[in-house]
Amino acid sequence: MFDAEKFIEKSIAKLAKEIKGKALIAFSGGVDSTVCATLVNKAIGDRLLTVHVDTGYMRKNESLNVKKLMKQLGLNYRLIDASKEFYNSLKDVEDPEIKRKIIGERFIRLFEKAADEENIEYLVQGTIAPDWIESGDNLRDTIKSHHNVGGLPEEMKVKLIEPLRDLYKDEVRKVARALKLPVSERQPFPGPGLAIRIIGEATPERTEVVREACYIVENEIENAVEKKLMEKPWQYFAILIPIKTVGVHGDQRAYGYTIAIRAVQSIDAMTCAYSNIPHSVLDNISTKITNVLGKKINRIVYDVTNKPPSTVEWE
Ligand code: XMP
Repeated sequence: MFDAEKFIEKSIAKLAKEIKGKALIAFSGGVDSTVCATLVNKAIGDRLLTVHVDTGYMRKNESLNVKKLMKQLGLNYRLIDASKEFYNSLKDVEDPEIKRKIIGERFIRLFEKAADEENIEYLVQGTIAPDWIESGDNLRDTIKSHHNVGGLPEEMKVKLIEPLRDLYKDEVRKVARALKLPVSERQPFPGPGLAIRIIGEATPERTEVVREACYIVENEIENAVEKKLMEKPWQYFAILIPIKTVGVHGDQRAYGYTIAIRAVQSIDAMTCAYSNIPHSVLDNISTKITNVLGKKINRIVYDVTNKPPSTVEWE
């Protein structure tokens, strides 16, 4: 049985011993990085610099909420708006693995720059077990290169610290609850963000569309859960499929993209089952998305595949 209290106590002692100077943590505001930042902050206090990067591929209002969270947790923090840089680096890139590698490298280079400016030697990341298992090693196949593992450049100037490396998501949540963190029940959000929820090139225009669609899916599902119409999925979001189909908008022909809805139940992200969403909730999501996104989207589909054979994210 995993003992969260013991893990917290041991981790803080180990981190205090291991980190001699200053450290920087890559902070997304999700469960993993919030647990990590809290543990390292308890171990070394303000010698930890918490950095949140707005990649442009964040969910609606996310970076603003992350800023509030960093303040609330009393962290020594910095916000970097790198959206233009990330958009430019993914221009014309369609292959999911190349996208992931470019994003991983961009993150590291930004963190290295911040570390250089502040004489920081250590980089803390909230990597958890499924991240490195699925990223492959000499023993396993690469399913996808998680941005914080397979996406890392081979040569890095900073030393990597990964306090949650051996934990699964359900265990990280137990630690978050024991630390009384406000994010303990948040759904996961991948580091590469909305860039891997757009099939093919992740242009700024497509990002705006999927950002709005994700926002609608989250809101409608959370409302339905609150009304007890359905069980809360483990993860729920939208994907933009840039394939055009014919539709009708008012009395005019439309030729727009497709949005896929994904909602899954899981324990540790290694396997998952698609969620049973009532048709009335799917109807609401479909109507809202097509109303709000107008002619850009004229078809909504629901993904009914489990993992395996599929994965949670589409890229
Ligand atoms: P997959 O798509 O591999 O996703 O079935 C399993 C879980 O991991 C999340 N995910 C990521 N998280 N960096 C992350 O921090 C990544 O590169 C990444 N790729 C997938 C995904 O959202 C799901 O919760």
